[in-house]
Formats: sequence, C-alpha cells, structure tokens
Amino acid sequence: MEEKLLKIKEDLKQALNKASKEADVLNIKSEYVGKKSEIQNILASLKDMSSDDKRKYGSLINNTKKELEKLINKKIEDLENQVNITFDDTINYDVKHGSLHPVTIVAKEVTDILKRMGFTIVNGPEMESEYYNFEALNIPKDHPARDMQDTYYLDNGMLLRTQTSDNQIHAMEKYGAPLRICAPGRTFRNEDLDANHENTFFQIEGMVIDKGVSIENLMYVMQSVLSEVFKSEIKVRLRPGFFPFTEPSYEMDISCVICGGNGCPTCKNAGWIELIGCGMVHPNVLRAGGIDPEVYTGFAFGIGLTRLAMMKYKINDIRFLNSGDIRYLENFDIK
Ligand code: DAH
Repeated sequence: MEEKLLKIKEDLKQALNKASKEADVLNIKSEYVGKKSEIQNILASLKDMSSDDKRKYGSLINNTKKELEKLINKKIEDLENQVNITFDDTINYDVKHGSLHPVTIVAKEVTDILKRMGFTIVNGPEMESEYYNFEALNIPKDHPARDMQDTYYLDNGMLLRTQTSDNQIHAMEKYGAPLRICAPGRTFRNEDLDANHENTFFQIEGMVIDKGVSIENLMYVMQSVLSEVFKSEIKVRLRPGFFPFTEPSYEMDISCVICGGNGCPTCKNAGWIELIGCGMVHPNVLRAGGIDPEVYTGFAFGIGLTRLAMMKYKINDIRFLNSGDIRYLENFDIK
C-alpha cells in the first residue's frame, strides 16, 4: 500500500512538472484527486478493509490525498505568479519615431555655435529671487522696467524669472572674470497672450567679460549666430534700446519671415520681430557680480529662443509651441 501511494505521488509530480498552463493542471487535478481517481478508489476501499488495516492505512491514505491536493494548488499558484512576457513579432506595430521640439533644436544650434567660440553652458534656476532677477541687474524696486516684466510672485517670496539675465550674476559670482558663458532656459511673464506673446517662453543669455571687450566683439558674435542659424540672407536691424543692465543697449530685430516684412498678426503689423536685446554690461552689474569695472568690461545678450524657432520654422503662432499638440509638433521631423 505504501508503495502504491508513493507511486501516485511521484506520478503526479512528474505530470505537474510537464504542465505549463492552468488548464493542464486542472485536467491533472481531476485525474489524480477527482471522483474517479485512484486515490479516491483506495479511499472507498477502506470500508471493506479489516479494522487492523483501517487503523494502519486510514490516516496514511487521507494524508496522501491532502498532499496531492497541496502539490496541485502550489502548481496553480506558481503559474499565476509567473509573468509570461512573450513578444509577438507578427503584429505590425505602428512604430513612430519622435522628433525634437523646434525650440530644443534652435537652442542646440545656438549653444553649439557659442560653444565653438569658447562659451561655457550654464544653467540657472527658474524660481528666482527678486535680487537676481531684478536688483542685481540694476533694476531697483521702484524701477519702471519691472512693470514690463511683471511675473508670478510665489508665496515663498520668490518669483518665476522673467529673463535668463539672472544667470549673469550667478555666473560672475561663481566664476569671476574673465568669463564667457551662455545660459539657455525657460522664462515667464504675466503677458496678455497673442500670436507673439506667451506666459512661458525660452531665451538664451550670453555674457563675455574680459579686458578690452568691445561692441565690435558683441556684433561679431550676434552676426555669427544669426547667419549660422538661418543659413541664408536674413534682414536684421540694429537700433538703440534700453535695458537697465547694459549701457549702451541695443535691440536687434529681424524682418518677419511669416509675412516677408509686410506686416501680419505675428509681428503685429510691424514687419519686424524683436529677437535680441544686448549691450555693454553696466558697471553696477559688474560690481554686483564682484567684478571691478575699472579693470574689466563685458557685453551681454539675450536671444528670444522661442521667437527664433518661430522665425526659423515659420511658425505663425507662439501658442502652438507650448500646446503639446503632437499632430502639430510632428511636422518638425527634424532630428
Ligand atoms: N533680458 C532682456 C529681456 O528679456 C534681454 C537682454 C537685453 C539680455 C540686454 C541681455 C542684455 O543680456 O544685455 O528683455
């Protein structure tokens, strides 16, 4: 009898080893512990046994049945826990490759050009203090320039930076002079939205400080960047501007590529798009960065990266760029 029971157990083990699906195990279950199974027959035969044999085999048979059930349940559990990853290569997946965002593309182009000219890329915080965003850039609390750059003031006393110019101060503090940095990044303003204005946009800041740095150097860098990014003749105009952190200050506009300079909603009928603010670094700003304006001079510039992307790819509404609408962004199949 013992041998018989042992054999049933071994047979079951072997059968379970071969089973790979729950359905197989269920078949095995009915074969080994179901109504017509051998163990069931043995149990049924107990009543015909002598009372000696009953005592001898009763619990052994019952225990064996329990063991068989345990083995079966364990196998079902194992199959459920087993993660079956199979790759069906007959399915025709619609594989799409992504594309870079137009702003990312121009940011990379500009930083590549500047890197070749020896600029280091730095990264500043989007949540900024009033000091770095305004005060250190020669824009005191009551200065009207703050009006044009209204932003989101946070409960913790910080603000969302309105310009990447905050990097000028961080970089001077960190690296001192001489200095040659550029800082691409996201900027924010409380703007009325239209085809050319968004509350979130991108700029890239540049700053060079050394002995004898001049406006010619600044113009050379600006020209190099624009001619490489556009790779074609593009009409540029330089005009005097005002920024509290540069003296003298300039603004560079490019002829609107959407309307060819004739006037459209994107350029607000001006025919020109403001693209770059630049100038010679104001002595107060150098001092705020711990640099002696008697020894060093510098130039700085801020390029509107979002606008640059719009002009390069002829995007007539800035709002598309932040929309996250894949159908639209997909059109820039540029890698
Ligand atoms: N931060 C200015 C703006 O957002 C742009 C700018 C002007 C940056 C002159 C500069 C600069 O570095 O020298 O309007």
